[in-house]
Amino acid sequence: MTVPVILDCDPGHDDAFNILLAAAHPRIELLAITTVAGNQTLEKTTLNARRICAVAGIRDVPIAAGRDRPLHGPRRTAADIHGESGLDGPGFGTGEPVVPQDPRDALALIRETLLAHRAPVTLVPTGPLTNIAALLLAHPDLVGRIERIVLMGGSTGRGNTTPAAEFNVLCDPEAADVVFRSGLPVTMFGLNATHQVRATPAVIARIAALGTPLSRLCVELLTYFASTYREVYGFDAPPLHDPLTVAHLINPSLVSLVRAAVTVELNGTHTRGATVVDLHGVTGRPADVEVGMEVDAEAFWDLIVEAVRVLGTPSG
Ligand code: RIB
Ligand code: CA
Repeated sequence: MTVPVILDCDPGHDDAFNILLAAAHPRIELLAITTVAGNQTLEKTTLNARRICAVAGIRDVPIAAGRDRPLHGPRRTAADIHGESGLDGPGFGTGEPVVPQDPRDALALIRETLLAHRAPVTLVPTGPLTNIAALLLAHPDLVGRIERIVLMGGSTGRGNTTPAAEFNVLCDPEAADVVFRSGLPVTMFGLNATHQVRATPAVIARIAALGTPLSRLCVELLTYFASTYREVYGFDAPPLHDPLTVAHLINPSLVSLVRAAVTVELNGTHTRGATVVDLHGVTGRPADVEVGMEVDAEAFWDLIVEAVRVLGTPSG
């Protein structure tokens, strides 16, 4: 039984690995990729999605660009982590990737994909939630076509962009609020979970040992990502946040889940963009969000290494 998926992302090093994992694993039916401004500008995140698909030989998945700014508030990027291109490290060259950009915008591609698919589709946003919120606001009729939303964002604890807020949610708190209050089944993988999957030198060595052009590119991506996480956060190894979403869809036991009420802070002077996760049910709000907690990191990295192996050896 495959899981039909649309990725909405802001590549971004970790988004890139989520694309690879979704494209490689037989349990995932990757229907479309949409991009949003986040780690870098929309133009750059869209180019990066095309680049990753081109180098990985992912040819049959439409890629469409979405919103270039949040519903409210200022635009921000994460050039300190992902570089000026948004995917610094490898040399992708200056030419256009062989994978084209779909002429539709992201909302049109998502809507048409949802209406055309034989069953409800899982949305997997791993950037700011602007596209998903805009879709739900513009097309409430599509709710019945959406199986669930499995997102990377927020945290049960501290943030990473402010002490309180994680980057994806902080980029567009109002969009995140729309998603969490949509009434759709939401599964949230926040920093509390994603910081358990760090690309250590041993992990990078496993990928390098595959010895293919794709594995070499992945090593360059992770080596750059490690350098910025060391410089900015003092991490010994970078957390590969986004693929926890697809890894969960592949193996639901890979991350333990608890149900909790999740509220997005919109007004706090120092806490705007925080995800307030009521782990002990003290607010009386419905515990309607699945929150990722404990990760089987070994199983996660096995999936990542296997995805790079499969895509890197066209015969599979
Ligand atoms: O805070 C980490 C998240 O923000 C990840 O999705 C990363 O790619 C950035 O989008
Ligand atoms: Ca991302």
